[in-house]
Order: sequence, then C-alpha cells, then structure tokens
Amino acid sequence: MSDRFAEPQGEGGETRQIAGGEVAVLTTAQGVPVSDDQNSLKQGARGPSLLEDFHFREKMFHFDHERIPERVVHARGYGAHGYFELTDSLADVTRADIFQRVGERTEAFVRFSTVAGSKGSADLARDVRGFAVKLYTKEGNWDLVGNNIPVFFIQDAMKFPDLIHAAKPEPDRAFPQAQTAHDNFWDFISLSPESMHMVMWIMSDRTIPRSFRFMEGFGVHTFRLVDADGKSTFVKFHWKPKLGLQSVAWNEAVKINGADPDFHRRDLWAAIEAGDFPEWELGVQLFDQDFADSFAFDVLDATKLIPEEAVPIRIVGRLVLDRLVDNFFAETEQVAFCTQNIVPGIDFTNDPLLQGRNFSYLDTQLKRLGSPNFTHLPINAPRCPFAHFQQDGHMAMRNPVGRANYEPNSWGPAQGGPREDPKRDFRSFQEAPDGDKLRIRPESFADHYSQARQFYVSQTPIEQKHIGDALVFELSKVERPDIRSRMVSHVRNIDGDLAATVADGLGLELPEPAQAARPTIEDLAPS
Ligand code: HEM
Repeated sequence: MSDRFAEPQGEGGETRQIAGGEVAVLTTAQGVPVSDDQNSLKQGARGPSLLEDFHFREKMFHFDHERIPERVVHARGYGAHGYFELTDSLADVTRADIFQRVGERTEAFVRFSTVAGSKGSADLARDVRGFAVKLYTKEGNWDLVGNNIPVFFIQDAMKFPDLIHAAKPEPDRAFPQAQTAHDNFWDFISLSPESMHMVMWIMSDRTIPRSFRFMEGFGVHTFRLVDADGKSTFVKFHWKPKLGLQSVAWNEAVKINGADPDFHRRDLWAAIEAGDFPEWELGVQLFDQDFADSFAFDVLDATKLIPEEAVPIRIVGRLVLDRLVDNFFAETEQVAFCTQNIVPGIDFTNDPLLQGRNFSYLDTQLKRLGSPNFTHLPINAPRCPFAHFQQDGHMAMRNPVGRANYEPNSWGPAQGGPREDPKRDFRSFQEAPDGDKLRIRPESFADHYSQARQFYVSQTPIEQKHIGDALVFELSKVERPDIRSRMVSHVRNIDGDLAATVADGLGLELPEPAQAARPTIEDLAPS
C-alpha cells in the first residue's frame, strides 16, 4: 500500500515516455492518441501557438476547472471508510434497520474536520472538530453530522451566518485564521450569552485534540427514535474513542502547526495503513417526554447537554475505520453529509438549529458540487437498492430508461417503475403543532450560564488553568477594551475566580457581571 503507484517510474532523464509493451497509449479525454504531450502546436518552431491545438486546449481547460468551492465551513477535513457494528439491539425503541440485529455490520464513511480554517489551513488550530458519519444502511443513507463537542454556540439557525462571518477571517484583511482570536469573533460571542457554555468547551483542551483518534463525537441535537407503532423516544448520540480522550497543550499545538500542519491527517492515514484501526463506541442517551418535561433545560436547546448522571449512556455499537480512501477528491472532498439524511425509525425534533441545518446542507452542496446529481457519485450513493423518477440535470447518469418516468402511471410491473410501499416508508413522527407563528426565543432557552459553570467546575485544576490561559491569550488579541471587558463580565456569571484571573491576565478592572437581558445599542457604544 505504501507504493504510491502500481507501475514503477521510468529511469533516466528523458521527458518523452513512449507507449509500447504493457504501457498504454496516452490519449485525450476523447480517446484520441497523443504523440507529443510536451509541446504545443506552433506556426514554425519559434512561431505563435495555434488556437486549433485541441489537445493543448483540452488539457488546459480541464486543469483550469480542477478546483471546486471549498466548504463554506469545515473546509479542511480528512476521511476514511469503515463499518458500524451493532452490539446491543435498539429494536425495543426504534424500527431503524441499522439498530435491529446484533452483530450486523453497516458500511460507513467518516470525515473529520476543523470548522473555521480554509482547506489549506493547519490541523492544530484551536477549533471545534467536525465528526461526520455517513452510514449506508439497508433503508437508505443516514448521516450523523456531529462535532467533537456536545453543545453548540447558538440556539437558532438564524444566527449561523453571523457566527461564521464573525469567526472566519475578517473580510477586509482576510486574516486571522482560526488560530488567533480577533475582535469580530469575540464581539459577536460577547453579545450572544447563549454561546457561553460552548465558549467554556472551546477554551478547554478539547479543541486541540492529539489526533482524530482521541476525540469524542456528538450528534449534539436531541433526535427521536421511532418504533413500528409510531412511539417516539428522545435520543442523544455519542461516539466514545476506544483510545480515550487526549489533547495536546497549546504550546505543543503551535509548534506542531509550524512543523507539520498535516499532523492529524497524517496520523489517521498512518494508523489505518499500519492496521491499527481507530475505533469508537456508539452510545445513546434515551429519555421520554416526561423526562424532557422535568429536565431543568429545554431538550430542544442545542447549547445544553443531558448530564450522563441524569441519563446514563447505553453503548449499542462500534465504529471501526479500516480503509483509506483511494482518491481524496472523489471521496473526502465530494462527500456530501446532510442532517436531513435520516432513515425510517429516526426523526428530527423541533430544535431550531437542527431545523435550519436541514435546509442549509443540501442548498450549499448544490453550489459546491455543481449539480443536483451529486448522489450519483459513488461516495454519496446509497448501497441499498434505490429507484425513483428523477432525471436529467448536470452529469445525469441514471435516467429512468425503458420504464415510466412519472407516477402515478397505469403501466404494468415491467414498465411502470417503482411503486410506493406504505409499510416501509419514512413516516414523520406525529407531533401536534405548538401554537401561533412567532419569531421569538422561548423562555425555556434563557439560562446561559448554569451548564457553562457545571462544565468549568467539572474540570481538574490543570484543565481549569488551561481554560483561564486560553481566555487570556485569545482575548489579549482583541483590540477593543469594551469587548474584552464584556466577555469578562459574562465569565463572572460562570465563575468568579476565573473572571478575576482573566481580568488580571488582561490588566483589566473586574467588570460587573453581565446582565442576562439583551444589551441595548447605548450599552454597546465603544468606550
Ligand atoms: C458542514 C451549515 C451547525 C457539523 C457544514 C456545511 C454547512 C453547514 C453549509 C458545509 C456542508 C458542505 O459543503 O458539504 C450549518 C448550519 C448550522 C450548522 C447552518 C447551524 C444552523 C452545525 C452543528 C454541527 C455541525 C451544530 C454539529 C453538530 C458540521 C460538520 C460539517 C458541517 C461535521 C462537515 C461535514 C463534512 O465533513 O463534509 N455545516 N452547520 N454543523 N457541519 Fe454544519
């Protein structure tokens, strides 16, 4: 596997490589044999190049179009193939085919990523890591598009473009990358108290993992499992690394980024190539409506987690990555994960972040991959039988041919095409609507500090010190004192000692605790 190419390369310094024996003839994409791939067609040996040189134009045209837009977020990522194996049946709570038969394996593809950096950025940036899993189940593809942190910055998808604008390089200067803090990011965060729980996690060592193999993964949102009778059980999904959790220290992260910006992808590649297959357990937290109603927070709020003490994690399977990609572009770059890819027996909740994501992924992938037919790419195609009436579009390869391309139709079994199956379809959980159309944030989403505090106090002293150091380091990169101060005023609501340490580290007077209410425009005027 370490041989980069199947065929040994020619010896000597000659630039012409001539076909013959076992060596195939070089052709254009149209199949026309090429005699000389080194020189363009000219009028005379030193004359002008000719427009009619179709071989040159085709070669250059294809090269010119090699790049596609990088992902608008999570641009830098690395993927591998593997499988999911069920170790404990969930047939008691879901009809999802993947969760029925213990011992059965389902093909999987996983892509790990950073969020804010560009495709060519460094692996050890302080950043959330994406943990996206595509499961090619017998009843369609299920994508669990998660992160390595169990909560998120915002509660409503409406705020996502602003969050990402603030986090990505600033539009006038196109820096910084995710490594260093900057005014825009902390301005936005300090005006979004809902982010405070996530801030504690991103300032912790979780955002500088030692490698992908030492990371947890989380579905983040509350989802539903639905059984054959339509009964729903709420679920939170967890991936637990077999190797345990490990991070690097910040000074190590900075050095690694300089010495080997590909550190994480190299680690994953090397481990799989050596047969040291990375593995995670899949855990679920299951709870019912009564628990949801009694829980101190709203289970639809993605800035909150369900403590494991309240709902223990039940391990139901394992994920093993045992195969490298053959073609980074075709697989890792063109894979399209989408939260709306769910299967019968799994369903959404009304989490307003999840609902917005369901729109965003498909929309962006049309732009990024250029055609609604990206499901025709092998990495995105289901592995189970599929049949529908879609046709045409850029790069269509699977038009319904020899049968009807519409329904209902009155053709017989041979020509009528696929038929609906009321017993096997995806059926949404029957949930009664909840009141009038309103553009508001529910009161049950209002407590932004309690879980942030719980996370901070659950850390060991050295981990707490790292959080304090990270806040001082990141906020020291913020130029406007009012933004620094506003951030510390939130930290006061999380932990008084931490706030004092950060204020001291920044040379700031300790501000009053932030008011829970939204600040007015007067409050916000730069001092
Ligand atoms: C990638 C949108 C929140 C995890 C993406 C992409 C978009 C997006 C547009 C690029 C997809 C592509 O080009 O294929 C959003 C929106 C969010 C949101 C609108 C909130 C409203 C989240 C959350 C998580 C998450 C909460 C984790 C639970 C990921 C991951 C990827 C991704 C892992 C990379 C997938 C891959 O490896 O290809 N997101 N996202 N996102 N998002 Fe989100």
